[in-house]
Amino acid sequence: MNLMRYPGSKMKLLDHILPIIKEYNFDIFVDVFAGSGSVSLALMQEKKVPGTKPIQYIINDKDYNLYTLWFSIFFHTDELKEKILNYTPKVEDFFQFKTDLSIGKCNNNNNNNCIDIAFKKLIIHCISYSGLGTMAGSPIGGINQNSNYKINCRFNPKKICEKIDKIRLYRHSLFNRSETNDGDVYNEDFSFFFENCIWESHYKAFFYLDPPYFLKGKDLYQFSFTDDQHKLLAQKLHETKHDWLLSYDDHPFIRYLYRDCIIQEIPVKYTTNGIVDKVELLIRPQKEN
Ligand SMILES: C[S@@+](CC[C@H](N)C(=O)[O-])C[C@H]1O[C@@H](n2cnc3c(N)ncnc32)[C@H](O)[C@@H]1O
Repeated sequence: MNLMRYPGSKMKLLDHILPIIKEYNFDIFVDVFAGSGSVSLALMQEKKVPGTKPIQYIINDKDYNLYTLWFSIFFHTDELKEKILNYTPKVEDFFQFKTDLSIGKCNNNNNNNCIDIAFKKLIIHCISYSGLGTMAGSPIGGINQNSNYKINCRFNPKKICEKIDKIRLYRHSLFNRSETNDGDVYNEDFSFFFENCIWESHYKAFFYLDPPYFLKGKDLYQFSFTDDQHKLLAQKLHETKHDWLLSYDDHPFIRYLYRDCIIQEIPVKYTTNGIVDKVELLIRPQKEN
């Protein structure tokens, strides 16, 4: 199940990613760069995951717009669905939503505002060219809607709401910092999870990391990485005691940063602008003897 079209979604790599993750034993799955959460959602749906205890999930993304979407799906489900069901896509909305979502974290941080941002974030990925959201130059079908594919061709409100209902069922799996509170979703920089252990020491955490692509990250995400951030992530991963799996685009710089790790090449076909064959990398530490 995928939440929405999202650049760099790992839907196509799940058959390679899930078997690796299932080799490990853990209680907490930390989706550090969750995006559309394709890996977390696939694991949540699996009947059998490693370990005997139910797994708790940390869904995190630095993009506040995306955070509000996850938050609203889990904690304001009906209000979000109502907005989606009452909506009809319009070309001018693409540009308005793009402006609204580019402002970043709003001062007026109340629930209604949070649901409004979540709604706009979801819609803009449905109506934008290639699902690129705020990073797209135009809506599907262009400004004049001359194409055979119109702005609403990927917008199916009933189906979206069914997905939201299914995802909402996993609310009980969200990591819960204290027994008395509901679980939560997170809007942190990746470094937070290396510097703060927010779970009890007897829990075993597994980190799945899918950072912005090295080459195309700046064209795809409101939050992308500088070279220094790619280096910092590599440094943190080399220092951490947690088990981890990392996915990246194939670039000599990335291969150099992880030259002492296990690097698996996965061929993938992408269909943006025709069919393109690419290689993505799955990287993990060498197992200790
Ligand atoms: C390749 S995408 C993740 C795609 C995701 N695995 C999926 O299947 O949809 C990378 C994500 O990292 C997020 N991101 C960028 N900089 C970040 C940072 N410093 N800390 C945490 N998340 C960040 C972006 O907002 C983006 O959603």
